[in-house]
Amino acid sequence: MLNIAIDGPAGAGKSTVAKMLAKNLNIVYLDTGAMYRGVAYYVIQKGVDPASESAVIPLLDGIQMDILYENGMQKVMICGDNVTPFIREHNISMAASTVSKIPAVRIKLVELQREIAAKTPCVLDGRDIGSYVLPDAPYKFYMTATPEERAKRRHLELMQKGVNISYQAVLDDITARDYQDSNRAFAPLKATEDAIIIDTTDLTPEQTAEQIMKKVCS
Ligand code: DC
Repeated sequence: MLNIAIDGPAGAGKSTVAKMLAKNLNIVYLDTGAMYRGVAYYVIQKGVDPASESAVIPLLDGIQMDILYENGMQKVMICGDNVTPFIREHNISMAASTVSKIPAVRIKLVELQREIAAKTPCVLDGRDIGSYVLPDAPYKFYMTATPEERAKRRHLELMQKGVNISYQAVLDDITARDYQDSNRAFAPLKATEDAIIIDTTDLTPEQTAEQIMKKVCS
């Protein structure tokens, strides 16, 4: 199965590049971060603290998550509701990172990710795709960039969306998420030995996508 794993920290450009690859190769793009964001959104809606494992676990059975595609765009559905428009809010980013530390949350979402990847050629981006979700994926990439460059990109993206937030607040958020995602006990963010590491600090998304396309098509 053509599964391309792209891991890396927040703001490395994974989703932009993954979308380009999916389009070029005419395969599906599975944004696994959106799945953790969906759970975080649901948990917050229920008035539960995403950091409280004992409060989050009882909610999990009630989360019927489906991943749908409409005009090539991924939609995260929870119990039939499309939560996609709400999961990009700034406060959801940290909550997703926090809820993703809970092993039961990861086990539930990884099961769905493996199911999709087994039957669909796709490019998946996340933190643990090459290391845990699909350790036998034929192509593994790890995209990174300096925290300052990643914060600059994310800040610009938020400003374009009309979100009024300082560069420093975005940098602080990215640094805290890097730490939390890399230091959790279960399936942390890491580059596997067989992953090709791409530092995108001085690369455009097109240049990064081209590097990956060369490997995949060689
Ligand atoms: O890729 P993203 O920024 O949308 O992801 C949001 C959070 O979800 C991220 O900080 C950590 C978590 N996540 C994860 O633990 N494993 C994944 N495969 C994808 C995301």
